[in-house]
Amino acid sequence: MSLKIALLPGDGIGPEVLAQAVKCLEAVEETFNQHFIFKEAPVGAIAIDKKGKPLPDATLKLCKESDAVLFGAIGDPKYDNDPEAKVRPEQGLLQLRKELGLFANIRPILSHPTLLDKSPLKKKVVNGTDFVIYRELTGGIYFGEKKLNEEGTKASDLCEYTEEEISRIAHLAFKAAKGRKKKLTLIDKANVLESSRLWRKVVAKIGESYPEITLDFMFVDNAAMQIILNPKQFDVILTENMFGDIISDEGSVIGGSIGLLASASVGEENALFEPIHGSYPQAKGKDIANPIASILSAAMLLEHFGLMEEAWAVKKAVDKSLKKGIVTPDLKANSQYGTNQVGDFIAHNIVDIEDDFLMNGE
Ligand code: IPM
Ligand code: MN
Repeated sequence: MSLKIALLPGDGIGPEVLAQAVKCLEAVEETFNQHFIFKEAPVGAIAIDKKGKPLPDATLKLCKESDAVLFGAIGDPKYDNDPEAKVRPEQGLLQLRKELGLFANIRPILSHPTLLDKSPLKKKVVNGTDFVIYRELTGGIYFGEKKLNEEGTKASDLCEYTEEEISRIAHLAFKAAKGRKKKLTLIDKANVLESSRLWRKVVAKIGESYPEITLDFMFVDNAAMQIILNPKQFDVILTENMFGDIISDEGSVIGGSIGLLASASVGEENALFEPIHGSYPQAKGKDIANPIASILSAAMLLEHFGLMEEAWAVKKAVDKSLKKGIVTPDLKANSQYGTNQVGDFIAHNIVDIEDDFLMNGE
């Protein structure tokens, strides 16, 4: 198979972690005789510096012409505390999601047996957790009308959803549940929000055509508590844009490090794969950032195109690095392994050379 992959490294640690995912995809090419054509383009703060806007036209064009986008990270602290900033790096990612029609963001949350003591939660709570969040990505308060009055004393963001926007992601989530533990939980705030009541109505109706799936509803405040109290109760979580943003960061504490969590954003025609973590500017250039979320995002890309064996090889190589403790310092205090070494180890294990090349090679 030949795939055109747009590489958008973005800001902060984005370029460093993305480079490790590319190494792994190159190892897949070599091992499984696949062909990937990589083309890189700027997005985020770096694109503002270079081209004056966070999503330059050429970057968008490249993404539209590619089979998939592999994304690094976005954000720069110089914009975070400036309420007057007219352009922001994040707008690049939001516009890209909208332009590519990436309405479903899929975020798997898993506990890893070798990392149980990395989570601040009790082992018995996290052990065996395996759920996936289907977060709506191109609607809701993120994209509703924004207003600020002339005096700058009153502001609003509108949260709007249509039946169509809810139903297209709901179908994806129900289908995912079919191939899993057959349970779907809609997270909302239907006791307060009209938009949430529409979600409940539409999802309940769609649920009738998936009789094998157990559907339940949970208010987001309770869900925030349940996710850390008893994460094993969840299988597929379906939710709107902002609730999904918040609970996916919360879910990341289960796995032990946000540096492990990958995501896929899919639409009718396009797909984008990115870690759920941010640009972690404090770590930029220090060779300490965990590349696993980016590498697992590449594995999700492979799965998206039906390259199951290839994706499995990548995940297995990641497991090996976790088991052998060839990990960055977020997972092992004082680890001597950096971003690049971890990437090399995982890529070499995809090619299936001697397990312990790093141990012996040093
Ligand atoms: C995410 C991020 C983005 C979001 C930001 C960078 C705009 O937090 O992908 O979760 O809020 O969606
Ligand atoms: Mn987020």
